[in-house]
Amino acid sequence: MNVPNISPFLFVTDLDNTLVGDDTALAELNQKLANHRQQHNSKIVYATGRSLYLYRLLAEAKSLLPPDALITAVGTEMYFDRDHSQYDPEWAEILSQGWNREEIVAIASQFRQLQSQPSSEQNPFKISYYLAESVASETLPQLESALSERGYEIKLIYSAGQDLDLLPRNGDKGLAVQFLRRRWDISATKTVVCGDSGNDISLFRGEEKGLIVGNAKPELLEWYEANSSDNNYLARSAYAEGILEGLKHFGFL
Ligand code: GLC
Ligand code: MG
Repeated sequence: MNVPNISPFLFVTDLDNTLVGDDTALAELNQKLANHRQQHNSKIVYATGRSLYLYRLLAEAKSLLPPDALITAVGTEMYFDRDHSQYDPEWAEILSQGWNREEIVAIASQFRQLQSQPSSEQNPFKISYYLAESVASETLPQLESALSERGYEIKLIYSAGQDLDLLPRNGDKGLAVQFLRRRWDISATKTVVCGDSGNDISLFRGEEKGLIVGNAKPELLEWYEANSSDNNYLARSAYAEGILEGLKHFGFL
């Protein structure tokens, strides 16, 4: 018999194709998480690639639970207030190290294979493109060396065979979660992170419990094969049902 967990935990999840993808399972998971938060003071955090603008559209369409903190734009923005109006300034200061947006855009613009994403998905610490999968494996190393020749050790994060994000070396979803845990003083053993694609890999690099949904994309499955450990769990089920499965596996629910 499963003993119900009565101690609070920090639940961090990606949205598209992780929390969101199966509406029935999402409703069940939402109910369990809302109860746990109310009774035991657990915390819910979303870590999404979306801008705040695209996050709000999804949150409304899918009736997402209001989070205790919100990480948007692949970890380059963090909000601790309820209405997400106050972008965390301390995090912005950390991201600014070794970053010069204009110069990085100028270097990347020499690569014709890169097509800019819409302006809503660009921010001071995130430059995003579309890059076709057929040319990604030759383009990415070339771009990386063009950047490092000019002294930029930044992050190139490729997801779902189409999206390329250029991020400061101090910024990604995983580093944002570490920052948040320090601020809230929550240990890694009481934290679970969930994801499905390339921009979630950084979440699984830390000491937290990692939960990969069954529908994960090839780039994350490849990473999992090469880095499997007791800390990371690959669910059999997809989307929110996979999350429920993993939370039971780790004893959080
Ligand atoms: C979301 C963002 C996009 C980003 C992608 C992968 O779709 O809107 O800008 O490239 O996630 O991180
Ligand atoms: Mg996703």
